[in-house]
Amino acid sequence: MRLGAGRGPGAARGPGGAGGRLAPRLRADPSRAADVKRLVIDTDPGVDDALAILLAFAHATTTVEAITVVAGNVSLDRTVANACTVLDVLSVSPTATPIFRGCGRSLLGTRVEATSHGADGLGDSHFPPSKRPIAREHASLALVRFANESPGELTLVALGPLTNLAVALSLDPDLPRKYRRLVVMGGAVRATGNMPDPSTEFNAACDPEAAAIVLERWPGVTLVPWETVMQYRIGLERVRELWAGRGARAQFVRKITGQKPRRVLEQFGLDGIFTADPLAMAVAVEPEIVAKSARHGVRVELDGRHTRGQTTVDWFDLGGEEPNVEVILELNGDRFWARLKAAAG
Ligand code: BDR
Ligand code: CA
Repeated sequence: MRLGAGRGPGAARGPGGAGGRLAPRLRADPSRAADVKRLVIDTDPGVDDALAILLAFAHATTTVEAITVVAGNVSLDRTVANACTVLDVLSVSPTATPIFRGCGRSLLGTRVEATSHGADGLGDSHFPPSKRPIAREHASLALVRFANESPGELTLVALGPLTNLAVALSLDPDLPRKYRRLVVMGGAVRATGNMPDPSTEFNAACDPEAAAIVLERWPGVTLVPWETVMQYRIGLERVRELWAGRGARAQFVRKITGQKPRRVLEQFGLDGIFTADPLAMAVAVEPEIVAKSARHGVRVELDGRHTRGQTTVDWFDLGGEEPNVEVILELNGDRFWARLKAAAG
């Protein structure tokens, strides 16, 4: 089955669904269809993953063709359940955006769980179990299939540990040529991370071997690192604005982010919340949002006693190797805020 078969590129978008306001216009004007970003989201929901998914669905010229799920912030059972909950909130049809279950452990079998997303991964909001069906195919196999069915058309956005992608790349080394673009949230490029080994960032530290495989074998990855995330913290006043809406999405956002300001204050001594995955999603759906980026060699440390999972950047290209990563350093904060507000509806 071709993903999205029988649907125009304007179908299955945001909460408006196929009948949403943009769909007829896209059908009437084929030249606009080229602007549509067709996404596959690999994710470990996670509060900020959930926000990122809302952001993608709220974006007028984006379609989400599939969600592949990996263990990360919480166990695989929970991340899959949380992905279902997010799509339930959005009333997305399971055929429009199927959910695929992926890897439950890192490549070497170790796994750290995040502490900042609550026991259920969605801020201890404890939603009832979803009845949404899960696709039978493994997420990594699905990632390979999508690429081969729509070569050059799909943007892959990775918001969790890179285990599913590393397995997919091992199955099909040509994957980078077959996806239009890969945007990854991960890494700490100036050794200012968010983990007990402080120079490391969660997604890279969770599965360092997978991160190393993806960065080594996928030329031109777009990387949104933790330091960039820290620059675009959402202050408390704006958090309250996000919570103020009356619709289902605003209520959902209020529930899942309710604990976040306290956790950020405890962990970083700062007011507000961080929105790592939504920033990466904004870069994927609206590349013009990037204000400053730089291409350099980025490697993943696999051996360090206190630095395992650290992403090292050759800022001055001293190693003489071909730059393999586009590091996003700055983006248009106002535009990002507008996207986030739209996501919370
Ligand atoms: C990343 O770690 C996870 O906890 C978040 O969901 C995000 O993907 C930030 O370091
Ligand atoms: Ca995540």
